[in-house]
Amino acid sequence: MSIGVCYFPEHWPSDRWREDVAAMADAGLEYVRMAEFSWGRVEPERGTFDFEWLDEAIDLVAEHGMAAVLCTPTATPPKWLVDERPNVRQRDRDGTVRNWGSRRFTCFNSPAYREETERVVERFAERYADDPAVAGWQTDNEYGCHETVRCYCDDCANAFRDWCRERYGDVDALNDAWGNAFWSQQYDSFAGIDPPRPTPAESHPSRLLDYYRFANDSVVDYNREQVEILRERNDDWFVTHNFMGDFGRLDAAALAPDLDFLSWDSYPTGFAQDRRQGRASVDELRAGDPDQVGMNHDRYRGALREPFWVMEQQPGDVNWPPTCPQPGAGAMALWAHHAVAHGADAVLYFRWRRCRGGQEQYHAGLRKADGSPDRGYRGAETAADELFDLDAVDAPVAVLQNTEDCWATHIQPHTPDWDYWGHHRAHYGAVRRHGVQADLVPPPGRPSAPALDEYALVVAPALHLLDDDLAAALREYVADGGHVLFGARTGFKDRANKLHETPAPGPLADVVGATVDQHESLPEGVPTTLEYDGDVHDYRTWAEWLDPDEASVRATYDSGTAAGRPAVTTNEHGDGRATYCGVWPAPEFADALVRDELDAVDVRRTDRLPGAVRAAERDGYTWVTNFGSDPVAVDAPGDFIVGDDRVGAYDVAVVGSPVDAVDIAPADDE
Ligand code: GAL
Repeated sequence: MSIGVCYFPEHWPSDRWREDVAAMADAGLEYVRMAEFSWGRVEPERGTFDFEWLDEAIDLVAEHGMAAVLCTPTATPPKWLVDERPNVRQRDRDGTVRNWGSRRFTCFNSPAYREETERVVERFAERYADDPAVAGWQTDNEYGCHETVRCYCDDCANAFRDWCRERYGDVDALNDAWGNAFWSQQYDSFAGIDPPRPTPAESHPSRLLDYYRFANDSVVDYNREQVEILRERNDDWFVTHNFMGDFGRLDAAALAPDLDFLSWDSYPTGFAQDRRQGRASVDELRAGDPDQVGMNHDRYRGALREPFWVMEQQPGDVNWPPTCPQPGAGAMALWAHHAVAHGADAVLYFRWRRCRGGQEQYHAGLRKADGSPDRGYRGAETAADELFDLDAVDAPVAVLQNTEDCWATHIQPHTPDWDYWGHHRAHYGAVRRHGVQADLVPPPGRPSAPALDEYALVVAPALHLLDDDLAAALREYVADGGHVLFGARTGFKDRANKLHETPAPGPLADVVGATVDQHESLPEGVPTTLEYDGDVHDYRTWAEWLDPDEASVRATYDSGTAAGRPAVTTNEHGDGRATYCGVWPAPEFADALVRDELDAVDVRRTDRLPGAVRAAERDGYTWVTNFGSDPVAVDAPGDFIVGDDRVGAYDVAVVGSPVDAVDIAPADDE
């Protein structure tokens, strides 16, 4: 388990580098990530390369016993390049050019940018192919950051026409698949197809979905070209990419097969404010939401079922959320432990030193702008000191996550309150509040999908686009003894984003043993309750009235026009069973239902955990992480490796016991 940092030596005088690198080594750091936005420094004019400064920085890192992680610099091409070849720039949907002067504005389909990318990546790869200090690479930076997965330039228009031609062969097949008879949206040739431009009413949902797929494929292809160049030069390098949190525009699982492992960039106090429903609590402003951060860890681990890296870990206060509070004391070390508990093998803080120029001056580093240690430096030092080597996480639960369902449900959300990630988290959070590890994995048939029989329980919160092949794989899993908990909006549509002719869950109706008679979306303020196991619970936003066929009824609506109708059913199918939950469950109900599903398959778990405390088992050890400020008492048979039996605000304990042997309760402080 390693701690590292991101360093921009080019921002500082070279006579400072030795002191900086020595201080990194003193803190116990093992990786230094560099060169990320360095194209302008490395190639100040076309064909004139200056790598000497980077050579020197890498040598210093090696001298201090650390390894370098390099980044391809393609997120920020130099000015001269864009002046020479202005058509490398992306365009917005309305045709507005995305300009130089920031980052990530270049088009994945621009033949000119592909050429330039190949040229520069080749030069970097060649330069460091024989340098043992370079452990591996990160391609580019955060593909899609600043809403740039989808571009609408002429190169994309041409590439999209080719993409449609290849996928459908015949334009009538496309018209048919999309359902273009609606509003006379038939095409008479592939040449007439454009990217979806602004329209008075919404665009056609099937056209949008295919455009999103096409844009995603463009990123996969662009990344693959970079990976191939790097691997060709040195096959021992690892190659990864730093993905983003709660980010739905890019399907990381589609890029995963080309990478050795996935990485992501974790900024807990920002994410709790800018990509999640609800107002962040005081504790979330100080430490973030454990399930929001955890679900991203589990997504980037789950895509390949391999340890992942946190390539950028929040180092202190940041500059981009609505407000930028200082993290709570301990939070910077807590985040590293939490990542490791969820399967990270390395956590690299972003950045080494608060920068004096440019867009991110209000973003902390491990060191202050004057170079002296900041709060995060102490956190990194603590984490580096406390971490120890571990085997990978072995999760008993799979949560099926298909990014195409995120796109489709957001194209037609049916209520402003729909949030794909929030709805997933309603189910995932209930698993985590029982201390159980879950892999977020792509469903059968998607790139890098696992065999489901590796899991005791499969949770499928919203498999919205469901074709016969996916239904067959799930049918087989259940028939062979598997247990699945399906969530609302499952099986409504085919892969073209068109409703099935049969009622939801379409081709899965026999496995679920029930169908959806009606669905409704509901705003806050309308009573939304149901009865489960003798208790009345809340749900929110979405409700389906179920018609059981073979299935038995587990929960019934208790309010509104649906009162008395089934809301949750369970069906025995073959040797297994399928539970269908037709609502977005509120936490109390999700916890009760998920607890019963876990118990039905004997998954080892804790009692329901208090507040923002979470437990996670890895390699026989259990991490107790407290993202809240109320202390908890921990009772376990094993030794405490980190911390002790009282875990206070934003603190952690690691104990040598399996999770079901650990008892966690609010501390009695009186
Ligand atoms: C990330 C990005 C970094 C830096 C950081 C600031 O999204 O990859 O380059 O901008 O945010 O928090």
